[in-house]
Amino acid sequence: MSEQFEFPRDFLWGAATAAYQIEGSPLADGAGPSNWHRFSHTPGNTTNGDTGDVACDHYNRYRSDIALMREIGLKAYRLSISWSRIFPEGRGRVNPRGVDFYSRLIDTLLESGITPNVTLYHWDLPAALDDRGGWLNPDIASWFGDYATTMFSSLGDRVPMWSTINEPFVVMDGGYMHGNLAPGHRNMYEAPIVTHNLLRAHATAVQAFRARNAPDTRIGLVVNLDRKYPASDSPDDAAAARRFHGYGNEHYLDPVFFGRYPDALREIFGDAWIERPADEMQLIREPIDFLGINYYTRMVVKRDFSRLPFKMSPVVQADAQHTEMGWEVFPAGLTEVLTWVKERYGDIPLYVTENGSAFADPPTAINARVEDPLRVAYLEAHLKAIRDAITKGVNLRGYFAWSLLDNYEWSYGYTRRFGIVHVDYQTQERTIKDSGRFYSRIIQSNGTSLG
Ligand code: FCB
Repeated sequence: MSEQFEFPRDFLWGAATAAYQIEGSPLADGAGPSNWHRFSHTPGNTTNGDTGDVACDHYNRYRSDIALMREIGLKAYRLSISWSRIFPEGRGRVNPRGVDFYSRLIDTLLESGITPNVTLYHWDLPAALDDRGGWLNPDIASWFGDYATTMFSSLGDRVPMWSTINEPFVVMDGGYMHGNLAPGHRNMYEAPIVTHNLLRAHATAVQAFRARNAPDTRIGLVVNLDRKYPASDSPDDAAAARRFHGYGNEHYLDPVFFGRYPDALREIFGDAWIERPADEMQLIREPIDFLGINYYTRMVVKRDFSRLPFKMSPVVQADAQHTEMGWEVFPAGLTEVLTWVKERYGDIPLYVTENGSAFADPPTAINARVEDPLRVAYLEAHLKAIRDAITKGVNLRGYFAWSLLDNYEWSYGYTRRFGIVHVDYQTQERTIKDSGRFYSRIIQSNGTSLG
């Protein structure tokens, strides 16, 4: 690889966050509670009982956080909107002060020359909608459509890039299958219902977006992908990997691009699986403008009949490096998922919308510096992996580091630090880590300094 490789001229170098993970002040200015507010306040759900009540206090500090983004040199910033700030009761009445917060945030980004990339749903559902069944209620497609329409008409003139839903797979798997995320259900029979409603909601929002016909703006979906490798050469392990690939990777993309669910889901869910009418599958196939991919790790799996319904279990690679999440560091898998998407689904513009690592940084900066060599190495290796994908012809338009700030890592609370900027949770002081400085140099050289 030549040291002079330069990324495409308009490559969007960015960083990502999500509303509940950084904002704090969840009930400020007339906002209603979200399912995450409720979940985190329920004892036993999160490490140390941590909640997003304060988080990074970004709700009050967004201006100085945007100044930090400028200091790093970010070209783009991926954020999400908290639905329950906009619709405190989930639907019906709009809360203008909620809209106003995001409007000011977007204006400040634009004044700073930073492109906003806005996600409508990053896991915080209005609690009032959870009371009506949340993602189990088919009406959620129209609730989400109304919310999306409200956001498009309030911010659509200023936001060039929208995503409907962040990681529908995790909403279903964490929220309804395994219960480690809000709303904390553990019910295999709910999963196929949730999946279908997520996809119908996504497509309804895309249709609402198209109806506006706004030039130079685009809408997409964000999925998390990771390759599944069989633990051995045995056909049983290969079948387990294939099944899990269908569950984790094709689950949402086959419906969106082909209008059908992968057969692996019928195998896994058995009598819990529900076949859907052709018109609903056609709706879900509504074309999108780009795909966002979140990538962190890979999985090695073996057949295991004791683990239902998947009949497989993960095999930890003892020799490999793992992050504090227990996720194996496997940069080559990022090149592979990007080329796989192109091969299977076609040449749609792609963005890496999240990629990053949790390592144990010190709770406070030392001599105004946070050295995080493991995160620097992770970032460097994954940037090389996206460079490889580009040289292989993948139409990759941007990269968003997860995360701009150390933040509230869902049920892990504040015990996992993903930021390229360190946050001292006692003082709310921010310090750009070595990884943030490293990223800054990459951005400045448009990738040529990657070596
Ligand atoms: C992703 C989520 C993001 C963050 C990272 C570590 O699945 O989208 O909010 O939690 O994982």
